[in-house]
Amino acid sequence: MDRLDKVLSNKGYGSRKEVKKVIRKGFVKVNNETILKETFKVDINDLIQVYDEEFIYQEFVYIMLNKPQDIICSTFDENHMTVLDIIDDKTKGLFPVGRLDIDTEGFCLISNDGQLAHKLLTPKNKVPKTYEVHSENKLSNEDILKIESGMIIDDEKCLPAIIKEVNDYYELTIYEGKYHQIKRMFNKLNNKVVYLKRIKIGELNLDSTLELGEYRYLTEEEIILLTK
Ligand code: URA
Repeated sequence: MDRLDKVLSNKGYGSRKEVKKVIRKGFVKVNNETILKETFKVDINDLIQVYDEEFIYQEFVYIMLNKPQDIICSTFDENHMTVLDIIDDKTKGLFPVGRLDIDTEGFCLISNDGQLAHKLLTPKNKVPKTYEVHSENKLSNEDILKIESGMIIDDEKCLPAIIKEVNDYYELTIYEGKYHQIKRMFNKLNNKVVYLKRIKIGELNLDSTLELGEYRYLTEEEIILLTK
C-alpha cells in the first residue's frame, strides 16, 4: 500500500505539493469516494480517479529518459550520478533496461518489469537498437560491407547490422548489446566513435522533444509497441 499523493506524484501528476492541493480540493476519488487526505493508502486494486478521469495505477513503470553524458546506466554508483538519481519516481525495483556507456546519450528505458527487460535484451530475440554514430573518419564502402555482414570483434561474432549514412553521421542498428559494441566495431575498422546516441529501441523512437536529462512515462500504445 502506498500513499495517494506519492502514487499520483510518481506518475507525473505534479510535485507532492501540487498533488496534495488537488487531493485537498476534492478532485481525487478512490473507489468512487472523494478522498481529502493525501496520506490515504491505496494499492493496485483500487479505482483511482483524478478530475473524474480514471487513473491507471500500473504495477509496472516504463520511463523513457534522454540520458545525458556523465550519468551511469546503473542502479547504484559510488562516484557518479545514476539514471535513477535523475528521475523523481522512487518506485521500488526500477532499473535501466540495458546499459549505455557513461559518455553515450539518448534513449534509456527505465522499468521494474523484469520480463520485458529480458525480452528486449536477450540476444535470442534480436531486438534492434538504433544509434546515431559520429565517427572520427568516414567509413569506406568496405567498412560498411563488414558492418553489414557481421563483424568479428575480439573473437566475438556480431550479428549483421544495418548502417545508413545521414548527413555527417551514421545511423547504425544492431541486434544485440555486446559490451561497448559500437565503439569496438569502429575501433576494429581503425576508426573512432566520437559521439554516440541511442535513438530507438525496437520500434520505439526516442521522443525528440525530450531535452537531455528529461524523461516521461511511456503511453499505453508505446508499451504495447515495446512488448509485442
Ligand atoms: N555501443 C557502445 O559502444 N556503447 C554504448 O553505449 C552502446 C552501444
